[in-house]
Order: sequence, then structure tokens, then C-alpha cells
Amino acid sequence: IKRITTHQLREMKNRGEKIAMLTAYDYSMARIIDGAGIDVVLVGDSASNVMAGHETTLPITLDQMIYHAASVVRAVKRALVIVDLPFGTYQGSSGEALRSAIRIMKEAGAHAVKLEGGSEIKESVDRILSAGIPVMGHLGLTPQSIYKFGTYTVRAKEEAEAKKLLDDAKMLDDCGCFGIVLEKIPAALAKKVSQSIQIPTIGIGAGPDADGQVLVMQDMLGITKEFKPRFLRRYADLDSEVTKAVKNYVTDVKSKDFPNQDEKY
Ligand code: KIV
Ligand code: NA
Repeated sequence: IKRITTHQLREMKNRGEKIAMLTAYDYSMARIIDGAGIDVVLVGDSASNVMAGHETTLPITLDQMIYHAASVVRAVKRALVIVDLPFGTYQGSSGEALRSAIRIMKEAGAHAVKLEGGSEIKESVDRILSAGIPVMGHLGLTPQSIYKFGTYTVRAKEEAEAKKLLDDAKMLDDCGCFGIVLEKIPAALAKKVSQSIQIPTIGIGAGPDADGQVLVMQDMLGITKEFKPRFLRRYADLDSEVTKAVKNYVTDVKSKDFPNQDEKY
């Protein structure tokens, strides 16, 4: 199977083919979504919430991201694998940013990294790109800044923030990033940004006009039941499915139905 490249993502934008991206954090699920034809797998720092049960993405460490990423890379044969640089590993200095990105590429075998922010992290983005590491940007609701925002509501509704976001998107394009995630911003702004830059935008809660879409896999599979933002479409109800299966298993064990005469050596 031929691997999806950052160049192909740009070609997909140019011919109007939407890019389909999902998160994964482990070998088993990554193998399934890659086999199902996903274009891009994101090893998101949402692992902090979804895998580890933290309230925010801030606690996850670079070592933990590398563990998740290495597991995903071992499973994925076709998709492009992008890995989030976690909070505190790239904002302080561009040197530290480069070292963090290099560790993710070397130790996990990732194909690209993603960083949150615009002009504030330009130096880090430039430094990582100069080492030949593909970089994806992330603008709008950037969860690593949640304590600055105070809430997870829609970003860039006001003109000043919308203008900064558009400027940041153009800057990331000019720097040489290969794509930008747009999280939870007005659909009209996502459309404008997507039309104003050459590289593909990947939306989450950004309306239908981004060049691609991303969801957290556990959200779209109905595993994270309490999380129901308007932008989320559920494609399965795995919470119910798993509950049903486990209840049946418990019943069968208790009733001595399982294992039966055929299920032994
Ligand atoms: O960590 C993550 O899952 C993300 C996506 C929501 C874009 O950054
Ligand atoms: Na993330």
C-alpha cells in the first residue's frame, strides 16, 4: 500500500477532495481505522483526556505521547501519522521545540508534528521545519490554552480575534506548514481561511467548508457519552455495545454457561 504524504493532502485540497482524519492512541484501534481508509491519523494530546482521564490536555508528557505514537505507527500502513507536541515542550524556546519534535520523529517514527498557536510560536515552527520535519498548525480553540480562555466555547467570533486567526493562518502557510487544524470557530471564518491559504485546513467544529475534517475517535464511536457538542456526529454507540457484551459475559460466567464443553482443552 502506498503511504499518504503531505503533498497528496495539498493535491486533495486542490481537486476538492475532502481529507478524512481521526485520532488514535493505540495499536489496535489505529490498525482498524487505517484499514478502513482514513487519510490521516492524529495522535492527539487528547490522549490526556480520553486515555488517561485528565480534565485537560496539559498533564500529558512527551514520553507518554511518544509511547502512544509509537504504538500507532506500528499499526498504520497507509495513513499519514501526525503527533501533537504536548504542552510545555515547544513554547519556551525554539531549541526545545526542535528537540521535542526530533524525539517524536526518531523514537515514535511519526511522519509529522502538530503545534498549537500562531505568531507566538513562529520561531519554533520555523526551527522544526528547518530540520525537515513537516508541521501542522492548530488555530481557534487550542485546548493547551484553556486556562487563558476560561471556557471551551466557540473562538474568534469577534473581529479582532478573527483577524488574528486569519493572519496566523497565512503566516503558517508562508512558513511552510503543510496544513492547519481549525477548531471550534464560525463556519464563515473557516471558509474564508480555507480560501485564503494554499495548504489544507482540517476542521473540527468549523463547519462544512474546511478542506478536511477531524474527530476524536472515542467521540464519534460513542465511547465518551457525556461529551455532546453540536459539531459531533456519532457513528456508533460503543458505550452501549460494550456494556451489553460485558453484561452478557458476566452473566455467562456466573451461570457457568461459559466456558462450555467445546470451549476447553
Ligand atoms: O488532540 C486532539 O485530539 C486534537 C484534535 C481535536 C484536532 O488536537
Ligand atoms: Na491536540
